[in-house]
Amino acid sequence: MSLKITVIGTGYLGATHAAAMAELGFEVLGLDVVPEKIALLQRGEVPMYEPGLRELLRKHVAGLEGATGRLRFTLDWAEVAEFGDVHFVCVNTPQKHGEYAADMSYVDAAIASLAPHLTGPALVVGKSTVPVGSADRLAGYLAAHAPAGAGAELAWNPEFLREGFAVEDTLHPDRIVVGVRSERAEKLLREVYATPVAEGTPFVVTDFPTAELVKTSANSFLATKISFINAMAEVCEAAGGDVAQLAEAIGHDDRIGKKFLRAGIGFGGGCLPKDIRAFMARAGELGADQALTFLREIDSINMRRRGQMVEMAREALGGGSFLGKRVAVLGAAFKPDSDDVRDSPALNVAGQIHLQGGQVTVYDPKGMDNARRVFPTLGYADSALAAVRGADVVLHLTEWREFRELDPAELGEVAAAKVLLDGRNALDPQRWRRAGWTYRAMGRPTA
Ligand code: UDX
Repeated sequence: MSLKITVIGTGYLGATHAAAMAELGFEVLGLDVVPEKIALLQRGEVPMYEPGLRELLRKHVAGLEGATGRLRFTLDWAEVAEFGDVHFVCVNTPQKHGEYAADMSYVDAAIASLAPHLTGPALVVGKSTVPVGSADRLAGYLAAHAPAGAGAELAWNPEFLREGFAVEDTLHPDRIVVGVRSERAEKLLREVYATPVAEGTPFVVTDFPTAELVKTSANSFLATKISFINAMAEVCEAAGGDVAQLAEAIGHDDRIGKKFLRAGIGFGGGCLPKDIRAFMARAGELGADQALTFLREIDSINMRRRGQMVEMAREALGGGSFLGKRVAVLGAAFKPDSDDVRDSPALNVAGQIHLQGGQVTVYDPKGMDNARRVFPTLGYADSALAAVRGADVVLHLTEWREFRELDPAELGEVAAAKVLLDGRNALDPQRWRRAGWTYRAMGRPTA
């Protein structure tokens, strides 16, 4: 008999994981504590833009025309406990207000709500990004509060999906990491992931702390790569070098690799910034803070880029105040193919210029609703062309494909001044310069 799976929490991670598990052939029951989210998912809708996710839900959500019916949603904890052999906990762990540490309250609440209903054997699998040591603590809680006692076991299985590629990354992950304490837990997780493992995905079996640390250290490494290249961009700016060529040249070395070396206004989103901060906070608690002091620098290089972009814009406008200047901002999401504006460098730069008196008009292909909610006082336009109309300077801050395909000549006709600042090093300088634009990018020579 095939395993039955539940997924607790239906945000980016949970909704994608639930749909992917149904795609792999399992019967899946998703739970959330927000009734509106459940109602939306039951109609096959998602509250965020994530390529391929809506299609996958429509393919599997019970009750929808032509769907397999393998995926259902509920608000009922007892139903979840009754239904599942394996329960994935996919709730989020945001940064605590005013602190670096991760807020574990959603994870703790999920385990506390589920535990009293676990009367028979069950495997509870944490997927959320948590401070190392959490799995051990939660395993103790489960053993003490689940009526099944030791029959209700915990495992940790961190998730590495990227927004914009969530479906692809879940169905075809680079690796699967499981922290387990029994052969039974390993066997169940091998069964869950039999398809990707058969397709060649490495399956790493380890203990709880290592499984938790794989996630935080992978994100720290990625953040370090981006801040490294942004630090090189600062040096290039001072020395007259070209950071794009530098990145390409060092990337030819396989040990370094070409990926994650695009200099610009830095990383944002709901993961990298808060994860490196939570990691530093946890290392401090463990007495290992010295080991991670470099992450403080990674964070500050990253945050500095936003201010440097603002200064670049000021300079392009002749120095001095932004008052009365019209600034077009292309991009609001923290990265392309996402509508997520959490800790978005693009929106931060737009906001800083606005607060300094600039007349800012933002356009983003998918992030407008979220941007409007977070920053209602900015100006918004429905197209790149409309945002650029009358602009004294154009800032390219999220590297959507749509922006690479813009026609510089057409934009040049409506802009007040043909000055483009590329905060993502993603546009073709020659294309824009040929159309008469002054093109500048971070870490690259001016012409
Ligand atoms: C990240 C990790 O990649 C993923 O494995 C983890 O599970 C969650 O955190 P995500 O937040 O979706 O995923 O975004 P990612 O693609 O990693 O990009 C993060 C930020 O870095 C974006 O703001 C992006 O614009 C920026 N970035 C990325 C750069 O500035 N330069 C680069 O070269 C690459």
